[in-house]
Amino acid sequence: MKPSIILYKTLPENLVARLKEKVDVIQVKNLSPETVQANADAFASAAGLLGAGGKVDGALLTAMPALRAASTVSVGYDNFDVDALTQRNVLLMHTPTELTETVADTLMTLVLATARRVLEVAERVKKGEWTSSIGPDWYGVDVHHKTIGIIGMGRIGMALAQRAHFGFGMPVLYNARRHHTEAESRFGARYCDLDTLLSEADFVCSILPLTDETYHVLNAEKLALMKPSAILINAGRGPVIDEPALVDALKSGKIHAAGLDVFEQEPLPVDSPLLSLPNVVALPHIGSATHETRYNMAATAVENLLNALEGKVEKNCVNPAVAKQA
Ligand code: GLV
Ligand code: GLV
Repeated sequence: MKPSIILYKTLPENLVARLKEKVDVIQVKNLSPETVQANADAFASAAGLLGAGGKVDGALLTAMPALRAASTVSVGYDNFDVDALTQRNVLLMHTPTELTETVADTLMTLVLATARRVLEVAERVKKGEWTSSIGPDWYGVDVHHKTIGIIGMGRIGMALAQRAHFGFGMPVLYNARRHHTEAESRFGARYCDLDTLLSEADFVCSILPLTDETYHVLNAEKLALMKPSAILINAGRGPVIDEPALVDALKSGKIHAAGLDVFEQEPLPVDSPLLSLPNVVALPHIGSATHETRYNMAATAVENLLNALEGKVEKNCVNPAVAKQA
């Protein structure tokens, strides 16, 4: 008998067919307690879990005693209780490489959109306000040759540094857990402690994952170090920024603008104070959301799951020690 898996994301038909060569696929909408309850037997017997979003915690693991591998269509895995998975000998797989260039494009999009006020001025054109030659109230600020500060110099940080350095002639500052000699030699990037980066950068770009250490790293005290002309960009995880503190900083002119692809609560509530600020560009977590990249991520997540179910975890595994114990 083939093992069964719970699929909680809609995948292209050819990828579902690929899964069905090896496993029985039970498709559900999401991982909500209601969904789990309504499909209790399927969850109880499933060896695999494949999808994106949702919360994979102790409660879900209790409902899935046969689970051996989980595969997320994302690089981030803050929605998984990794310790609980590891204790239960469940492998966790993710897609760290497919989305790098696409997320770097999203970051550059936010840099340009905030600096040049693209959304604001385009909206004014649509409203018929472009009736004579434009004056300073339509102007933005330059991007080229300004200083970019990158917080989190992983793969995405490197791809952003490449764009900023070669495409826009920007000096690159970075902060990360360790020095990154390749970023320094290829892009002239300069390592800074976080406070120095915040006080010197014109564009502060966070690509930090969400962990206990990164939660609210950018709080009121840190935001106060930024220049009043500086722009904050976040395409990592929302809770890295203390959002009420950011709203304060934007309202009081302590910083110039913010470009955000991620939020403390997603979807962003329609009554969020961020949405009433003209100097905020808010995107619906589209970091990796292109047809090409989302397909590649899904295809990798499928292979990741099939590999993990066979105990193959040479790459893309968050907790490979589990495979050694099994
Ligand atoms: C997107 O946010 C991801 O983690 O892939
Ligand atoms: C984090 O993104 C790092 O590489 O330090």
